[in-house]
Amino acid sequence: MSHSKEHFYKQEIDFDQEHDFDGLISNKWNFRKERVGRDDVIAMWVADMDFETSPAIQKAIVKRAKRGIYGYAAVTEEYTNAVIGWFQKRHQWTIAPESIKQTPGVITAIHLGIQALSELNDFILIQTPVYHPFFRVIKQTKRQVLENPFIRTEKGYEIDFEDFKQKIIEYKPKVFILCNPHNPIGKVYRKEELIKLGEICLQYDVKMIVDEIHCDLVYSAAKHIPFGTLGDAFARNAIICTAPSKSFNLAGIRNSNIIIPDEELRAKFQAVYDFVGIPKPSLFPLVATQAAYEKGEEWFDQVIAYIQQNRDYAIERIEKNLSKLKVNHPEGTYFLWVDFSDYGLTKEELEKFLIDKAGVWFNQGYIFGSQGIGFVRINIACPRKTLKRALKQLEDALNELK
Ligand SMILES: Cc1ncc(COP(=O)(O)O)c(C=O)c1O
Repeated sequence: MSHSKEHFYKQEIDFDQEHDFDGLISNKWNFRKERVGRDDVIAMWVADMDFETSPAIQKAIVKRAKRGIYGYAAVTEEYTNAVIGWFQKRHQWTIAPESIKQTPGVITAIHLGIQALSELNDFILIQTPVYHPFFRVIKQTKRQVLENPFIRTEKGYEIDFEDFKQKIIEYKPKVFILCNPHNPIGKVYRKEELIKLGEICLQYDVKMIVDEIHCDLVYSAAKHIPFGTLGDAFARNAIICTAPSKSFNLAGIRNSNIIIPDEELRAKFQAVYDFVGIPKPSLFPLVATQAAYEKGEEWFDQVIAYIQQNRDYAIERIEKNLSKLKVNHPEGTYFLWVDFSDYGLTKEELEKFLIDKAGVWFNQGYIFGSQGIGFVRINIACPRKTLKRALKQLEDALNELK
């Protein structure tokens, strides 16, 4: 990889290029030996892309870095307009400037939101299997996990509305955390589903934390519907979490924009934010986010098209060559959710097999809840060559197992 000046000014990113991660202090790639005992496994776990971000973002960061002055920063009108502009254009969602609050991540915002909207020991409702830190945050804030498991069907996963309502009546959760698009199952919620969930929450006075971090990462056949576009009553019942981190591969930059349309909810959120001492947003996250939303669109359209081809390639290959696996067809997110249960391995055996025999590092499904036992989550936001190599290694190892 070239580190020359030109590097930062090139117009196009070659998504096929495999990068050298040495020295990047990448959580995904640089600690393989310590974490899984082998430094040659293909890392397809944590939700980073293996691509360089948009040249426009790189340029903005470098330009600002070169000024050499790194005092405290503050949110500008240009920054806010960039956020508003993106969601207006891409999602037809009109966001009021005063409703936006920055946090150093979506999980931080969920942490604060739970504390703002519930009391110790209250139940917090989630739809499982789901992004594993939801369980952790609920436990860390000393609340209790209440699960509304998805119903697995031939076509994928469906919401169990009856159970959703019954759990609310029985356990009186104060908060429902909705993940749309859904990690790990790749579901993009339909408008009717969102309305139905939103109505039940309003009826029983359950506040919503809506995690829309993957909102841009939706494939061509689906459409993300921001919860904030469904009407005032729904929007006012929710804390809606957005971020440029997944869309633009900026997770290490740590910035998210949390939209809280209701003044009272916003004040409660702010009170916890102040109480726990979250600092004001820092410099480079603001620079990178503004550049992403102002100038990153072309790159984003290219990356999502590339990942969609990865999805189609991987699904076709798995279904053809590894018919004992069942792979979902995600509508959004860059994950495949793959069921290994026909191989009859315990969760420890599956984990060991994938690392030791196949040389691939996926997230184990059980971390997403008990419905995930026997599954893995595969991150396919990587160069096609990497994906092909991983699938080949997996095929060879599974063929030996037969
Ligand atoms: C659904 C979901 N929410 C939140 C996060 C993490 O957000 P952050 O790093 O901003 O805390 C992720 C990261 O993978 C995610 O998939």
